Amino acid sequence: MELVQPSAGYKNSFIGAVKEFQGDADYTHRNKWYRSLVIPELEADFDSFVERELSHSRGENLREGYVPYSTFWLVDGGEFVGQTNVRHRLNDHLMQIGGHIGYDIRPSERGKGYGNKILELALQKARELGIKRVTVTSDIRNVASRKIIEKNGGILENQIFNPEMGHDALRFWIDIS
Ligand SMILES: CC(C)(COP(=O)(O)OP(=O)(O)OC[C@H]1O[C@@H](n2cnc3c(N)ncnc32)[C@H](O)[C@@H]1OP(=O)(O)O)[C@@H](O)C(=O)NCCC(=O)NCCS
Repeated sequence: MELVQPSAGYKNSFIGAVKEFQGDADYTHRNKWYRSLVIPELEADFDSFVERELSHSRGENLREGYVPYSTFWLVDGGEFVGQTNVRHRLNDHLMQIGGHIGYDIRPSERGKGYGNKILELALQKARELGIKRVTVTSDIRNVASRKIIEKNGGILENQIFNPEMGHDALRFWIDIS
């Protein structure tokens, strides 16, 4: 199991995962991103999709208000299992909600320990980027995510209302210096 950069070699399992996310009744911001992808476009030109994903780390093709970020895919046995985004720095919004690192595991592979592992590996990537203290946030309803953050050394700082979700978010810090 490892984190790799997005690559056309994982086209089939990535698209399979997108279909699962799109069929999953999930409230998270990350699920919204998967729902925004168009399967026929991925099927037709996966290389362009991969190139766009890679370009974000160079500060290119960023949505308004986004900071540069690196995307990594968790792969196991040659198959896409999940994704993490490591933001190179925080802005005001990320400082409150979102933090340095976001992650997800495809629905059919949840509950097998991949969530704990993807954050552990993402923290190594953050360290390589020179980040010393990572902030991670979790919707208060997201019990699995809270456990993952705490297992990886997360110390709860506070709880704030997330207007986008209509619920509180928990804000954690993880020292990786
Ligand atoms: C949150 C998420 C990454 C968890 O992935 P996962 O692979 O199921 O996580 P794991 O199997 O490593 O489980 C992590 C912990 O949560 C627990 N857990 C898993 N699913 C759970 C659930 N539905 N309810 C309660 N606890 C749960 C596990 O028992 C484990 O606890 P433990 O380490 O004490 O045994 C996954 O559900 C997901 O992708 N959700 C959508 C995106 C998201 O919420 N991302 C996080 C915020 S950025």
